Amino acid sequence: MLTLGRLTYLEASPSVAAPAGRAQTTLLLIHGFPLNARSWEPQLQLADRGWRVLAPQLRGFDGSPGHPPVDTVDDYAGDIIDLLDGLHVEDAVIGGLSMGGYITLALFRLAPRYFRGMMLADTRSQADTAEGIEGRRRMLALVRERGAGAVADEMLPKLVGETTKHLNPQIVEHTRALILASSPDAIAGGIRAMMSRPDSTPLLSSIHCPTLILVGEEDAITPPAQSEAMHRAIAGSELTILPRAGHLANLERPDAFNDALARFLTHRV
Ligand code: MLT
Repeated sequence: MLTLGRLTYLEASPSVAAPAGRAQTTLLLIHGFPLNARSWEPQLQLADRGWRVLAPQLRGFDGSPGHPPVDTVDDYAGDIIDLLDGLHVEDAVIGGLSMGGYITLALFRLAPRYFRGMMLADTRSQADTAEGIEGRRRMLALVRERGAGAVADEMLPKLVGETTKHLNPQIVEHTRALILASSPDAIAGGIRAMMSRPDSTPLLSSIHCPTLILVGEEDAITPPAQSEAMHRAIAGSELTILPRAGHLANLERPDAFNDALARFLTHRV
């Protein structure tokens, strides 16, 4: 893990030069809840195909500094702007999975000039429903009273798709380990940010950069219909539905996920 001031991140640098006449592209990937930057380890391999990959650790997750505590998706987005500025990255293909997608849309609302392209994976544009907010309140109480392990028990059955549970149970255990690496404070910050996020649907028609939307066919948290709706609302966007993957499509089908992303980066960005 690298550090820049109070920010921590993973970075993989290209082992091959950018094609002649093309500037190097940075791909910045924002992790989902309640995971951490290490959930993007399979995507760091995209550096072997010529892209610089950055995976910021959201504030407080996996031992990164957690102060001041996060209350909103804009707090996380501000940290990512600080990281891009600190690394002198003028623009990037910025994307995220699930909560990372909520933060990607917040970042686009705050600072669209950083977007050379966008990737929205297993996410949605809408704010939480009243029922969803109730569920978040229960999870806040759960993490305060019983810690990260109880959150892992509650979320794992929904995070990972049915095919993965049967064929690759080690991915479930890997995901549990990622969740257990974070403090209750970090997890509570993520919950507060998600439950207070605004509806980003009105923003979608103003996205004019190349955009890739990816979703696991078996995603039970943000099902494909929500990706299809974003695809219809973002002009010129591409949609890829990954068979045999659930909500954690990048971990469950890393090769298919990377191939879709590499095709997008090569032909659309
Ligand atoms: C995530 O994967 O980031 C969260 O499960 C998203 C959510 O709960 O809305």
